Amino acid sequence: MKNYRNANIVVLTGAGISAASGLKTFRSQEGLWEQHAVEEVATPEAYDRNPELVEAFYNERRAQLDYSNTEPNAAHFAIAQLEQQHEGRLFLITQNVDDLHERAGHKQVLHMHGELRKARCPATHQSFYMQGDFSAENKCHCCVPGNRLRPHIVWFGEMPLGMGHIERALTECDVFIAIGTSGTVYPAAGFVRLAKAFGAKTIDVNLNPCYSGAFDKQYEGCATESVPKLVEQILSEQEEFA
Ligand code: APR
Repeated sequence: MKNYRNANIVVLTGAGISAASGLKTFRSQEGLWEQHAVEEVATPEAYDRNPELVEAFYNERRAQLDYSNTEPNAAHFAIAQLEQQHEGRLFLITQNVDDLHERAGHKQVLHMHGELRKARCPATHQSFYMQGDFSAENKCHCCVPGNRLRPHIVWFGEMPLGMGHIERALTECDVFIAIGTSGTVYPAAGFVRLAKAFGAKTIDVNLNPCYSGAFDKQYEGCATESVPKLVEQILSEQEEFA
């Protein structure tokens, strides 16, 4: 009989977990896609058409990460605690491109949509942490002559990162927990169904639960309240499940 204590757990986080740290979500009033058309700032075509506009969008979001009030919140710290104390496996996938999970002490984070703090060479696809702004002057050092570095972000129409690892983890997990994601963008929106098809218990943590009935359990409320409680339940083995 599996119980929480030794379960293999996959956690998928979305913009909602970072909302409580002051970072905008995508699909809410004042959300990022309310203020910027995706086609203008988040597609390879947009970058080819107007790299300066795309760079300005990501430079502004990178700068936000350095604002003093952009700190990991209780939900980030609770998941990092789960990584440290849980007996079973924990696989964290995030759709977020911020570094709040890492700053909360999380060691293994799979950023399936890339990372704001990194740059990427468009030719070799090498990615690395970069300080400062993207600009025409910022060139890679892996090519001669250097190529203009692009944001290490998966744009619409590009393949998310780590899909092989993700699919294997989903077919092997006992518990799948989605936190702060609207379930509107694939392939991430389909992860719950794949996990469920392979027998996982599925849990959704959301301010306004909106997925269809794909979840066995829903925790409605702010992630900063519900995630620490859920992690405490898992670590104290209060719940058994088949
Ligand atoms: N606590 C819990 N959930 C929250 C909170 C909060 N404090 N605040 C907002 N939410 C929920 C919202 O109810 C919503 O369901 O977080 C979700 C955020 O949804 P989106 O803005 O669509 O963000 P996300 O699901 O991460 O988007 C997925 O879409 O545009 C792409 O690449 C982008 O990674 C992003 C992907």
